[in-house]
Amino acid sequence: MMELKNDRYLRALQCQPVDRTPLWMMRQAGRYLPEYRQLRAEAGDFMTMCKNPDLACEATLQPLRRFDLDAAIIFSDILTIPDAMGLGLYFEQGEGPKFKKVITNINDIKQLPIPDPNKDLAYVMNALSLTRQELKGKVPLIGFSGSPWTLATYMIEGGSSKTFTKIKKMLYSDPAALHLLLDKLAESVALYLNAQIEAGAQSIMIFDSWGGVLSHSSYLEFSLHYMHKILSLLNRGTKHEQYTQNYIPVTLFTKGGGLWIDKIMATGCDAVGVDWTVDLSTLTKGKVAIQGNLDPTILYGDKQTIEENVAAVLQEFGQHNGHIFNLGHGINQDTPIESVETLVNAVHKFSKKIIME
Ligand code: CP3
Repeated sequence: MMELKNDRYLRALQCQPVDRTPLWMMRQAGRYLPEYRQLRAEAGDFMTMCKNPDLACEATLQPLRRFDLDAAIIFSDILTIPDAMGLGLYFEQGEGPKFKKVITNINDIKQLPIPDPNKDLAYVMNALSLTRQELKGKVPLIGFSGSPWTLATYMIEGGSSKTFTKIKKMLYSDPAALHLLLDKLAESVALYLNAQIEAGAQSIMIFDSWGGVLSHSSYLEFSLHYMHKILSLLNRGTKHEQYTQNYIPVTLFTKGGGLWIDKIMATGCDAVGVDWTVDLSTLTKGKVAIQGNLDPTILYGDKQTIEENVAAVLQEFGQHNGHIFNLGHGINQDTPIESVETLVNAVHKFSKKIIME
């Protein structure tokens, strides 16, 4: 296997020293890039891009041609699993994701199949192996999945939601049904992520975009428990005292999960993703890496505002090992390209300065 030319991201995930803080951006491939909009117009729609390995590979590489980023994330979506379970994912213009079939009761859940990732999701594995090859060791490739709780919200609500009333109704009126769904999803996600590792993913991220809408005890029971289960099933390899490129680090990101960071760290994950509500100076450093946490709307500000806020995030984390710079959530589609350039240059410049001090 080809040696990595830039392994800052993997080193930081293992809490090892780096020459500067590694950086990537959630949703780094997407509509804020004119070349992405063109590729999607040619393809016709988003899922066609995801299901075609050449197009998915091209979309993955686009942001890396423009910006000096330290990781690539495979172009795909978290909703590929419910789609492979037969729910029929589609995107309505301007309305976000939708499902043809919605889960309403325990009978629906009992009938759901566990997808075979190398058959039902082979397009994701093909995109990963092609992209890993095309990267030629430039930077590591991230594979990902949604958390069971976050996937369940889309499957039960039928799409995006602001109130989560349907899934919360099930949580409080038929918790056994919801647990059965989450358990099936955890098994499906573990199989899916292990297949991604086999196909060439060098690090894994689990997006729990909606964990933050749960109460304290419900978060532990209905979201964190199942991410913990997935971790116990993943083939990460063995982590040694010394850095190795053969270990597959796993990042757990709960949007709105700032109050539970110690509990998330205790799962045995390698890194915790945090949003912009978290003060990085309060976190335990050096054992579990931290990814974050610039508010993506700061990229609407001018150059000086962006630089000041980037420097503030780096200062807050301080001179410790184990920081991966990122936004606190995905980049917005109307973000100016120049703002991203400013961000990347600022992370390079200020993090070198902090490390040298
Ligand atoms: O980060 C990357 O560059 C990799 C690609 C990626 C996408 N979706 C591409 C995408 C990743 C990692 C995701 C994850 C994802 N998908 C999440 C978790 C992260 C988060 O933001 O919390 C969620 C909740 C989804 C579900 C989803 N997919 C939604 C809500 C939408 C609609 C968003 C919108 O603004 O319309 C999508 C579609 C989607 N996934 C797009 C992209 C680039 C936009 C599709 C398009 O119109 O071109």
